[in-house]
Amino acid sequence: MNRDHFGSSFGVLVAMAGSAVGLGNLWRFPYLMGTNGGAAFIILYLVMVFVLCLPLLYCEFVVGRRTQTNLITAFSQYAPGSRWSIVGILGLLGAFFILSFYPVVGGWSIDYIVRAIGFEFRDMAAAPAAEFEQMFQQTMAFSPRSLIFHFVYIALTAFIVLAGIRDGIERYTKWMMPLLFLMVVVIAIRSILLPGAQAGLDFLFKPDFSQITGKTFLDALGQAFFSLSIGCGSILTYASYVKRSENIIKLSSMTALTDTLFAIIAGMAIMPAVFAYGLSPGEGPGLLYAVLPRIFAEMPMGSWIAILFFIILFIAAVTSSISLLEVLVSVVIEKLRWSRKKAVILMTLVCWVIGIFSVWSSEIFDFFNNFSSNVILPLGGLLLVIYVGWVADFRIFEDEITNAGRLHYNRFYLRWVRFVIRYLAPLIILTILLAGVL
Ligand code: TRP
Repeated sequence: MNRDHFGSSFGVLVAMAGSAVGLGNLWRFPYLMGTNGGAAFIILYLVMVFVLCLPLLYCEFVVGRRTQTNLITAFSQYAPGSRWSIVGILGLLGAFFILSFYPVVGGWSIDYIVRAIGFEFRDMAAAPAAEFEQMFQQTMAFSPRSLIFHFVYIALTAFIVLAGIRDGIERYTKWMMPLLFLMVVVIAIRSILLPGAQAGLDFLFKPDFSQITGKTFLDALGQAFFSLSIGCGSILTYASYVKRSENIIKLSSMTALTDTLFAIIAGMAIMPAVFAYGLSPGEGPGLLYAVLPRIFAEMPMGSWIAILFFIILFIAAVTSSISLLEVLVSVVIEKLRWSRKKAVILMTLVCWVIGIFSVWSSEIFDFFNNFSSNVILPLGGLLLVIYVGWVADFRIFEDEITNAGRLHYNRFYLRWVRFVIRYLAPLIILTILLAGVL
């Protein structure tokens, strides 16, 4: 079968970063840091990302690019004769789980675009925080409105996946990502300049380690997986469309850096405002939606910036959900030999139906949200490192990251990566998973 390929290295980077940067950075990271004590959580998160998860990103990238095939086939090909396609099946499950709540949050972003265009925030300029909270409650409630926005979000995701990877995403994200970045920076600056913002900056940058509990480790690990898009095949699937001449270590590292930078700036956009308005950083998943509109209501040109921000939030989300849907679609296309169109329609319908449960009940929403990040993704990651480090011949990995010896890296760095993949990552992930789940 003739497979699609990314046109350029920059295209790969933008698509990967597009997958990584999403609601995880702008919505999930701020509220998790809010409920886990701020700076101490960020430090833990950074350690998780750069020590543990970056080598895992290499692993997913390697398996995908080596095999140039879908998630399920990839795991039976990379280590022939092993029965490890189970890792792929777990990944599929993870993709379904995430797609069952992610589009709900995506739907809220469309709802907020509509509100912003109607100048609703401006009209609430002097309103107390409780009213913004109430607006968010209304958005979340199970209603025709929330069902419609959820559906619209899924349909748009499907529409883009239908158009294929190369021409759609690659070209589109090329200018959306920089714009997104710029907007978050503008909002961060505005937020930092609010009177009373200092307390928010302290919260972000002055660690208070007494806040760290066993749960904090699990949250930080789960968030690192979630934000980097690892553990359920998005990176693997995109990597399967990457040419053999590309530099895996460079592309992975830049993806992780971009993603982390975004998360930190998102924190700087949100926390100072939370503190400036005397709101609680620990309010959970509503943080972004209940708090940001307050800033927009007050800031000069806020109505316009609000429109732009929620459009961009939506686009950041879509460039991520596309990478999840593509996981499912590529499996169906290659395993069942269906056309892309048929595969997209079927998978979209399935995700839509499962997603309705998350619109309906916030308990179900929370379950999918937490269970996928804190159980399925780390479990998928654990199996992945064991698979790459032990089940398959580790030399395949080394061969692949060096492009068969053509690229050269510091010997100690490569040894370190090998140590992380074979020993450190399995050990730590297993420990945190067991401690967190039991
Ligand atoms: N990383 C994306 C975000 O932060 C979400 C995402 C896309 C994802 N693909 C994934 C999470 C695969 C886990 C696994 O919004």
